[in-house]
Amino acid sequence: MPLVDLDRFDFLYANRVKGMKSAATRDLMATLSRPGIISLAGGFPDTKAFGEEAFREISHLVAADSAQALQYGPTAGLEGIKDIIVEVMAAEGTLAGQEDVFITTGAQQGLDLVGKVFLDEGDAVLCEGPTYAGALNAFAAYRPRILHVPMDRAGMIPAAAHESLRKARKQGIRVKFIYTVPNFQNPTGVTLAAQRRRELLDIAREYDLIILEDNPYGMLRFGGEALPSIASIEQETAGGPDRVVYLGTFSKIFAPGVRLGWVHAQPGILHKINIGKQGADLCSSNLTQMMIQSYFRHADWQAYVNRLMAIYKERRDAMLDALAEFMPNEVHWTHPEGGLFVWVTLPSYVDATSMLPRAISRNIAYVPGEGFYANGGGKNHMRLNFSFVEPKKIRRGIELLSEVIRERMELRSDLERGSRSGSQHSSPRSAVGNPER
Ligand SMILES: Cc1ncc(COP(=O)(O)O)c(C=O)c1O
Repeated sequence: MPLVDLDRFDFLYANRVKGMKSAATRDLMATLSRPGIISLAGGFPDTKAFGEEAFREISHLVAADSAQALQYGPTAGLEGIKDIIVEVMAAEGTLAGQEDVFITTGAQQGLDLVGKVFLDEGDAVLCEGPTYAGALNAFAAYRPRILHVPMDRAGMIPAAAHESLRKARKQGIRVKFIYTVPNFQNPTGVTLAAQRRRELLDIAREYDLIILEDNPYGMLRFGGEALPSIASIEQETAGGPDRVVYLGTFSKIFAPGVRLGWVHAQPGILHKINIGKQGADLCSSNLTQMMIQSYFRHADWQAYVNRLMAIYKERRDAMLDALAEFMPNEVHWTHPEGGLFVWVTLPSYVDATSMLPRAISRNIAYVPGEGFYANGGGKNHMRLNFSFVEPKKIRRGIELLSEVIRERMELRSDLERGSRSGSQHSSPRSAVGNPER
């Protein structure tokens, strides 16, 4: 493997590559599969829960129509799967029309296509701070400015979004869309409050922007009340999709290996997205569309989602209990009511990125917070995943992690004592994760 820094084709690469960086979790994957490591780093659903027998059954059903499964398909996707998506969206309270649904190769491709369709170099996107690293990655290819809007326990703060837009307008910066993960956000696990969903839509209307609502986790709720999607709020007044572009996926309610998601949007936007997708991959796999179709038609998919939720809830509880049991008082974290992640805030002087090698040497891994910000920040944060690891291991993992954190904190106390400088650290702490212990 050539060293990336000494890449001899540097002079040939496109400028856009300079702004692109590999996601920390993707880079970590090889290390994390090392035996003995407790990885709270991935964002993996527990695919073991699906079972071989159920998989064999749906494969068998698809084999009956092998010619179509092995063929190219329409760019917008097969009609049958769109009916399934309408059903899935209805189960979450959004009334979608089949004609407004467009199939993508995972929601990740939806993010890329929305970037492709809307972003010119120098345009801006308003994102939560922190936000999904994969979205930053997808947008980076189009070289936008990322304007992070602070969050608290109720999600992105609308007044701050408004202020950011006002400033951008004053500076002549063109903001194209607001990107939000409203439910059990990756990475914080925080959910956008219902009133804020309405406010964000009002703000988007005021500034004539798109809202990109990325909702992979909405169905993975195991506590509290389900909230209306921004897409459904828009429908109350607009009668159908207008400025809300909604991304859905089968990755978390079925399995990520099928790489299948969708965009729900108005026809003009879908037309542009269609052209963008033709250039990217012509169409998503017929094979996996048909697998999903036969599974969702013949099996009780909601029962499967409920089973997943029971597993994740137990693991979420194990993680929150272990955090309360082992972490020093100075450490804080979020209490998600669903999804896959908890966001941890360390004392401001602890750098989660530089601590990671030590954590891995103690057989525990997490994702440092830095990767969830485009322009620096998040250093004293980490994302922990609870969906993939069994409760006992989660408990042990958090115990190990707390030891690594204490070690860092003690190192700092020793240094302070040594220097007798009495210097005080009072850097501002992120709004997310502090108040909840
Ligand atoms: C917020 C968010 N959006 C999109 C994706 C990508 O999902 P998919 O597997 O459908 O491409 C993920 C994956 O973890 C995610 O967390």
